[in-house]
Amino acid sequence: PRKIIIDTDPGQDDAVAILLALGSPEEIDLLGITTVAGNVPLPLTQKNARITCEVAGRPDVKVHAGCDAPLERPLVTAEHVHGRTGLDGPELFEPKTPLAVQNGVDFIIDTLRAEAPGTVTLCPLGPLTNIAAAFRKAPDIIDRLQEIVLMGGAYFEVGNITPAAEFNIYVDPEAAQEVIRSGVAITMLPLDVTHKALATRPRIEAFRALDTRVGHFTADMLDFFERFDVEKYGSEGGPLHDPCVIAYLIRPDLFSGRQINVEIETISALTLGMTVADWWGVTDRPANAMFIGDVDADGFFALLTERLGRL
Ligand code: BDR
Ligand code: CA
Repeated sequence: PRKIIIDTDPGQDDAVAILLALGSPEEIDLLGITTVAGNVPLPLTQKNARITCEVAGRPDVKVHAGCDAPLERPLVTAEHVHGRTGLDGPELFEPKTPLAVQNGVDFIIDTLRAEAPGTVTLCPLGPLTNIAAAFRKAPDIIDRLQEIVLMGGAYFEVGNITPAAEFNIYVDPEAAQEVIRSGVAITMLPLDVTHKALATRPRIEAFRALDTRVGHFTADMLDFFERFDVEKYGSEGGPLHDPCVIAYLIRPDLFSGRQINVEIETISALTLGMTVADWWGVTDRPANAMFIGDVDADGFFALLTERLGRL
């Protein structure tokens, strides 16, 4: 199995990504979870990650809290999408599993130094603050990474938090720029693909029909999560952004994209956090990311339902 660290800001879709990873031990070896401030502040994202692991029956998974604010800006959150707790929908509880003592940034650094070079993949599902902070503190880990597979950015779908920017990149554009310029192999799952992975009514009911704790928890989260996109955009369901990252690691054949150049806007107030993706190759800037553009949505939901059913 592929060794990964999930860096996350749960978030209902983040929680489903964690569940998908835990339901896929043959393909995914989850070394630990680091949390970041994003959808909601850090005290909530770390708590939500621990709740999610407990729902999966995996209180042994270590959850480390990382940065509580972007590198150079005040935090922007998304309670309007995820609710006050970040995980609105199911009945939440106080997790019994304690938060790991070590800071998330140091966990990333120590893990990359301890594991064989080229064997660990980072999976950021929130703002890239922890990753950039780790690179600043320990530049030696950059060459030790296998790959970064992240949810973030947009091209044809443009923005969700502003007309020009996707939330994860917008919240910490300096961090995103440092990560993308680091030279690490990067795969990006932007809104272009996640907006095709819609949790429609029948797909949510398939999770509920598992009739397990995980199945009900997931359906209850998505009942809440979908209302935002359905009410605001008339969409058929909420986009399951973050699970696309884990599904890509398990079944890359479900996805397609292009190796292109992507740059991050960090200056313009109007287009801050925009991922300027050279999809058509109109510049001679070298490719620095695999930018995924399409997904077999039915295949993705079949995989997700089957794997959640294993928990
Ligand atoms: C991203 O922002 C968050 O609201 C979601 O969890 C996802 O990671 C989508 O733009
Ligand atoms: Ca997220």
